[in-house]
Amino acid sequence: MRPLTLLPFAVFALIHAASALLVSSKDGTQIWAEAKGNPRNPHFVWIHGYLLSSLVFDKLFEDETYLNNLYMVRYDIRGFGQSDKPLNAASYQSARFAEDFDAVVQAFNLHKPFAAGWSYGGTIFTDIYALHGNGVVSGFVYLAALDSTSATSSVSQPLALNTLPNLTQDANVTLYNTAEIGFVEGTIYHPSTLSFETRVAWIGLGAVIPQVVKSNLLNRTQDTTRLFAEGGPSLPVLYVAGLRDALLNDTALVELLRPKFKRFEVLTLPDSGHAVFLEGFEEVRSSVLQFVHSVIDRVSFTLISPSYLVTNLVAKPSLKGVDARRNSFGGCTGGT
Ligand SMILES: *[C@@H]1O[C@H](CO)[C@@H](O)[C@H](O)[C@H]1NC(C)=O
Ligand SMILES: *[C@@H]1O[C@H](CO)[C@@H](O)[C@H](O)[C@H]1NC(C)=O
Ligand SMILES: *[C@@H]1O[C@H](CO)[C@@H](O)[C@H](O)[C@H]1NC(C)=O
Ligand SMILES: *[C@@H]1O[C@H](CO)[C@@H](O)[C@H](O)[C@H]1NC(C)=O
Repeated sequence: MRPLTLLPFAVFALIHAASALLVSSKDGTQIWAEAKGNPRNPHFVWIHGYLLSSLVFDKLFEDETYLNNLYMVRYDIRGFGQSDKPLNAASYQSARFAEDFDAVVQAFNLHKPFAAGWSYGGTIFTDIYALHGNGVVSGFVYLAALDSTSATSSVSQPLALNTLPNLTQDANVTLYNTAEIGFVEGTIYHPSTLSFETRVAWIGLGAVIPQVVKSNLLNRTQDTTRLFAEGGPSLPVLYVAGLRDALLNDTALVELLRPKFKRFEVLTLPDSGHAVFLEGFEEVRSSVLQFVHSVIDRVSFTLISPSYLVTNLVAKPSLKGVDARRNSFGGCTGGT
């Protein structure tokens, strides 16, 4: 290939350059985070689910349509993936999760980002609102997601309810392995959705989390009061429901959340399991982009804040964190 023919690829790579960082949260916990795409696009943060990491969004972070439309950001929730996994329960208080989100927002200079949470990832929205209320985000996308950890028992399918105790116990490896494999298999309805490589990577993500951390993450308490009281009247929310979800009852979650939010949209995928962003890839992508653009168009009619212009049109992003390609499992410290 002559050098000139490589130019378009070089330009594409430049436009969609990725930055991966270890970001310090307020309590010193190191959070692994990555941004990819053009910072002039709407800012969008993806938050993964239980026992997994932001690795689950790999396909989205390679997708040109997503990258051409959004500034794509993802991070590993504390306790998961490459982020630190403090052992003590105090490190899993609600405010810590909101501070982790804040640290990611600051590191990549995000302005009122949208956020999507898959499954357990949806609980982070409650943490953000409990600490800050309105003004931090532009909208939430629940991807077959929970609103809080306390909802787990009432909206989980039997598979999840029977699996969670086996996943968090510390006495029987056979029981754990069966539960972990069953849990990952339970995220999909169509077996072909996950390649063998992806499947074992997802299963392996459970192994880097100490058992006590797995429990701390489930046992933490949250308060949805501010999310519903302040977000309810004005926050744009999109819920993506998979009717073949084997882990959560998305219909029950929609029934629970619809009365709470005035601006509530639902995308129902009859043929998708729990991993709606993969099993309904194109439909979810169109809905997410439509949702973002409808909110932005409405905002730009009423006001464009000077800080938005500075952030998005003038300032170059200044990244605040330590460069961190995928290479570690994070630290596990702090007594139980
Ligand atoms: C969890 O363990 C119990 C035995 O303690 C077993 O009866 C049950 O089938 C297990 N659940 C799953 C989903 O494997
Ligand atoms: C561990 O769990 C398996 C599967 O339920 C069971 O067959 C086995 O007896 C258990 N082992 C111990 C040591 O309890
Ligand atoms: C989490 O909660 C369960 C059920 O209430 C309890 O059995 C378990 O000991 C708790 N785990 C931790 C680490 O606090
Ligand atoms: C899911 O929740 C809906 C609404 O509450 C209920 O009608 C349905 O029976 C539930 N499905 C399952 C499989 O539990």
